[in-house]
Amino acid sequence: MAVSTSHESRRAPTRASEPILSARRVTKIYGTGPQATEALRGLDLDVAAGEMVAVMGPSGSGKTTLLNCLSGLDDINSGTIRIDGHPIHDMDDAKRTRHRAESMGFIFQAFNLIPVFTAVENTELPLLLAGRKSRDARAQAIETLERVGLGHRLGHRPPELSGGEQQRVTIARALAGRPKLVWADEPTGNLDSETAGQVLGLLREMHAEGLTVLLVTHDETIGGSAQRLVRMQDGLIVSDEPMKSTSPRRRARRAVKASTT
Ligand SMILES: Nc1ncnc2c1ncn2[C@@H]1O[C@H](COP(=O)(O)OP(=O)(O)OP(=O)(O)O)[C@@H](O)[C@H]1O
Ligand SMILES: [Mg+2]
Repeated sequence: MAVSTSHESRRAPTRASEPILSARRVTKIYGTGPQATEALRGLDLDVAAGEMVAVMGPSGSGKTTLLNCLSGLDDINSGTIRIDGHPIHDMDDAKRTRHRAESMGFIFQAFNLIPVFTAVENTELPLLLAGRKSRDARAQAIETLERVGLGHRLGHRPPELSGGEQQRVTIARALAGRPKLVWADEPTGNLDSETAGQVLGLLREMHAEGLTVLLVTHDETIGGSAQRLVRMQDGLIVSDEPMKSTSPRRRARRAVKASTT
């Protein structure tokens, strides 16, 4: 996959130390009465712009709920969530949708691609919904599909694509708008190891250019390779650690070792 710097130049600049996401005492309860499930139980989380955070935890611990609530896709019961300084749950639906379209990308496992649309039409759709001119949206969609290695599949519809190719269209769709923040829920869960490696490689390239990534995974290797690993249990964060392997000193040592072997 080719690396392009155009992504960096077109994304709104954010400083590394600026919190892009700040969540306080967030609760989410599904259902009511005896059926109620407390999926988030007063959770706090801060993410700095440019961080890559992996979220791990047992099935049912609240990881998907966390992404849905923090991104404003789903409502919360109490607490506050600010993204880029905006309290997203205080916005009306239209404003929240626009904010999402302008600054966020979503890579969820259920591909949610529109089957009658081609790869390029699926990829440009969020851009058109965000009000981009159709010619710009088309050019941006094609460039991003090329970047995920699908330049030769622009006119294919999802049923004519392999699972890994569909997942890459989902990723192109998430990244085509040059978001500041990407939410990924088990983005490699359905993929063979080679395609999973490509998908992660692309996310890392984008992260190296300044993209903030929140990534849910069940894979300890992927979790361990992120900059920071958050573990959830029963609707709460039970640990939150920077990963040693990504400390600047360790990276520098690795770089020296790689250049001398
Ligand atoms: N729409 C819903 N209605 C009722 N309960 C829900 C709903 N969505 C999730 N839950 C419940 O909330 C809890 C957290 O679910 P969530 O999907 O966030 O877990 P998860 O950590 O993503 O699990 P997995 O690793 O299996 O994807 C679970 O107990 C789940 O049954
Ligand atoms: Mg989940």
